[in-house]
Amino acid sequence: MPSLQKSSDLRRRMKDALKGGGTKAIEKQKAIGKLTARERIIAILDPNSFHEYDLFVEHAAKDFGMDKKSLPGDGVVTGTGSIRTKPVCIYAQDFTVAGGSLGWAHAKKITKIMDHAMKLKVPIIGINDSGGARIQEGVNSLAGYGEIFYRNTRASGVVPQLSVILGPCAGGAVYSPALTDFVFVVENISKMFITGPEVIKTVLGEEISMEELGGARVHAEITGNAHFYAMSEEECFGQIKQLISFIPWNNTKKAMSFPKKNPKTRRYPIEEILPTDPKEPYDVRDVIKAIVDDSEFLEVQELFAANIVVGYARLQGETVAFVANQPLVLAGVLDVDSSDKAGRFIRYCDAFNIPIITLVDLPGYLPGVDQEHAGVIRHGAKVLYAYSEATVPKITVILRKAYGGGYIAMCSHHLRADFVFAWPTAEIAVMGPEGAANIIFRKEIMEAENPDEMRKQKVAEYKEKFANPYVAATYGYVDAVIEPLETRSKLIHALEISTHKDEVTPKRKHGVPPF
Ligand code: HXC
Repeated sequence: MPSLQKSSDLRRRMKDALKGGGTKAIEKQKAIGKLTARERIIAILDPNSFHEYDLFVEHAAKDFGMDKKSLPGDGVVTGTGSIRTKPVCIYAQDFTVAGGSLGWAHAKKITKIMDHAMKLKVPIIGINDSGGARIQEGVNSLAGYGEIFYRNTRASGVVPQLSVILGPCAGGAVYSPALTDFVFVVENISKMFITGPEVIKTVLGEEISMEELGGARVHAEITGNAHFYAMSEEECFGQIKQLISFIPWNNTKKAMSFPKKNPKTRRYPIEEILPTDPKEPYDVRDVIKAIVDDSEFLEVQELFAANIVVGYARLQGETVAFVANQPLVLAGVLDVDSSDKAGRFIRYCDAFNIPIITLVDLPGYLPGVDQEHAGVIRHGAKVLYAYSEATVPKITVILRKAYGGGYIAMCSHHLRADFVFAWPTAEIAVMGPEGAANIIFRKEIMEAENPDEMRKQKVAEYKEKFANPYVAATYGYVDAVIEPLETRSKLIHALEISTHKDEVTPKRKHGVPPF
C-alpha cells in the first residue's frame, strides 16, 4: 500500500475507534449531563496537551458472543498530558462501550498507564464510569481489578492518585477509588456502592434508590468516601485543577511555588473573629482565611465530619496544610469521623512533604455510648499516630480551648510539634473550668451555705489559675504567646526556618497504625 493510502487507512481506523459506543450511546450519556470520556480528559488537561495511547487495543474474549463483538478501545481511554504545564497520566472509562465494563484488555490499558505514572513519578488521574467487572470475561475481569488494586497500593505515598467518579462505580470496582488519595463526586452523576439496590432488595427486602444508597451527597457527607463534591462535571474539573495546584507531583518534590500575596485582611479581621464569650462558636475557616495568601483556602472533605476542617492554602506562595477544630460544629470535638478524616489527611501531607499547621480549639473527645461503641478509642488513636509519625514541619496555634486528650492530640509539643504558639485567649487545661471545679471542689461546694455561689467562685478560681496559656508556657509546652495579628508572620518565620528539617525515624519495615 502506498504511504498516502496507509495514512488514510490510519485515519479511517482512528475515526472508527474514536466513535466509541456510537452516536446513540453518546446521546444517552449527554441526556443525563455527562460528557464523553475524551471530552472529560480534554476538559481536565491543558489545551492540546492530551496524547492518547492504546487506541487500537481490543479484547480477546470469546464466550457469550464476545468473539463477534468489537469494543473500541475496549471501553477505556488512556494517555498522558499536562495540568499547569506539568505532566500527568490519565484514564477515563467510556460508558458508551459495553457500559465501561472492565475486561482483561481494559484493565491492562489502565495498569499500563499506572505503571507509567509510577516510572515517570507523576500524578495518575482515573475517571470511573463503569458497570464494573465485565460479566462475560469472568475471572479475567476480577484479575484485572486485582492488578489495579495492587498498583494503587504500591503508588500510595509515591505519586498522587485522584479518582473522579463520573457515573456508576459498582461492586468491587469501588475499591480502586477507595485506595487512592482523593475522590471527586458530582451530584446526580456519581454512584458508588458494593451491592446495588436490586441486590439489597432481594437479600434484605429493603428498598432504596441508587441516589440514596450511593449518590454523590451520600459519599461527600455521610460515608466520607468522597473528598470533593461538585454540582456539575465542569465544577468538578475546576476542583481537580485547583487541588493539583496545591500538591507536589511526587513524594520527592515540593508543591509548585506561587507569587507571594497577602491575605484579604479587611474581609477577615483576625483580631475580631473570636467572640468575647468563650462559649460562643465562630467559623475557624475565617481564621485560616485571615492568615493565608489571598485568603484562598481549598477545603478537603468539606461536608464530612465538619467538626474538623482540613485543607490547603499558601503562605508566601508555598503550600501548607491546615488541620483545625471547627467550633461551629459540635464545638469542634474529636470524634470517630473527625479523627478518621484528620488522621488520613495528616498522613497524606506527611507523605508528600506538605507542612502542617494545626489550629486548636476543642473541648476534647466526644463523650457518649455511641462514640465509645463506634470505636472512638481506635479511631481517636489515628490522630495521635498520624501526628507523632509525621516528620514534615508541624506548627500549632492554640486559639482557645485545648482541654484534656484534645490538647495532646492536636499536635502538641509532646507529639513533636516543632513550634507551639498560643493566643492570649488560649485555655490549656485537663478539662473545662465547670467540670474541673465540680470534681476538685465537690466537698466545699456541697457543704457551702450557698452551693451555687460557691460553685461560681470555684469555677472563677480555677479559670484564673488554669484557663490561660501561661501555665503551659511556664513549662515550655507553649513556645510563645502571641497576638492574633502576629499569627501570619510567626507562621511564615517558623516555616522558613523549618525548610531543611530532617528527622531520623526508627528503623522498621513500617508501623502498625490503628486503622
Ligand atoms: C458487561 C455491562 C456491564 C457489566 C453494563 N454493561 N454493565 N456489560 N458487564 N458489568 C453493558 C450493558 O449490558 C449494556 O450493554 C451497556 O453496558 C449499558 O448498560 P445499561 O444497563 O443499558 O445502562 P444503564 O441503564 O445506565 O445502567 C447502568 C448500570 C447497569 C446500573 C451500571 O448496567 C448495571 O447494573 N450493570 C451491572 C452492574 C454490576 O452489577 N456490576 C458488578 C459486576 S461484579 P448494551 O450492549 O445493551 O448497550 C463486579 C465485581 C468486581 O464488579 C470485583 C472486583 C474485586
